[in-house]
Amino acid sequence: MHTIMLMNAKGGCGKTTLATNLATWYADEGFRVALADYDPQGSALDWLEARKDYEGIPEIAGIDAANGAARAPRGTDYLIMDVPAGIHGKEINRHLRRVDHMILPVLPSPLDIRACQRYLKELSRNQRLARGTLKVGVVANRVRENTRAFHDLEAFLSQLEIPFLTRLRESQNYIRAAETGLGLFELAPSKVYNDVVQWDPIIDWLKAG
Ligand SMILES: Nc1ncnc2c1ncn2[C@@H]1O[C@H](COP(=O)(O)OP(=O)(O)OP(=O)(O)O)[C@@H](O)[C@H]1O
Ligand SMILES: [Mg+2]
Repeated sequence: MHTIMLMNAKGGCGKTTLATNLATWYADEGFRVALADYDPQGSALDWLEARKDYEGIPEIAGIDAANGAARAPRGTDYLIMDVPAGIHGKEINRHLRRVDHMILPVLPSPLDIRACQRYLKELSRNQRLARGTLKVGVVANRVRENTRAFHDLEAFLSQLEIPFLTRLRESQNYIRAAETGLGLFELAPSKVYNDVVQWDPIIDWLKAG
């Protein structure tokens, strides 16, 4: 089983958005996927609930992990972990114990950049990251090109030692996917093309690992 975790100290940066869409990408490819929601808000589980309204789309197993423990169903190929904001110190390492890939979404804002900087410092103490058994990548989310805020974020992310995987633009398609229980990859291809291509580097990075 391959485990991918979405994490960042900052709230609202896109952890659930990336977790749910990634889950559908693997499910649409025919893999058995489980989505573990560690957040008491339960947004990922709400999204799975909305997904039940559709027939003929691949199933994704939901795991309520708000109490901190997640056991994936037998035969799961990909476990996606959606972890709430504000996890620090030893708790970070506890969550990361079984993780193969961790993705850290960051918004183009000075507050988010500073919070990310502090968080990466905490993360750098993780021994599995140092040994290379845990891979970490960053994603710029809700990007509006040609804004000062994005250029500052891009400059920050580009000088990090961990890979800057991609930018995901600010798009109503993510809102639409969130409310319907579908993934970006399950919406009309002509409407989502510009968003979907931005995911290629994430998928390539995950495959390479
Ligand atoms: N690229 C995007 N374009 C437009 N809206 C986005 C994008 N990414 C996320 N959003 C929206 O931003 C809001 C916050 O995103 P999301 O819930 O994924 O963040 P989160 O990190 O999981 O937040 P929390 O810390 O509260 O769990 C949601 O309403 C989501 O639909
Ligand atoms: Mg969330």
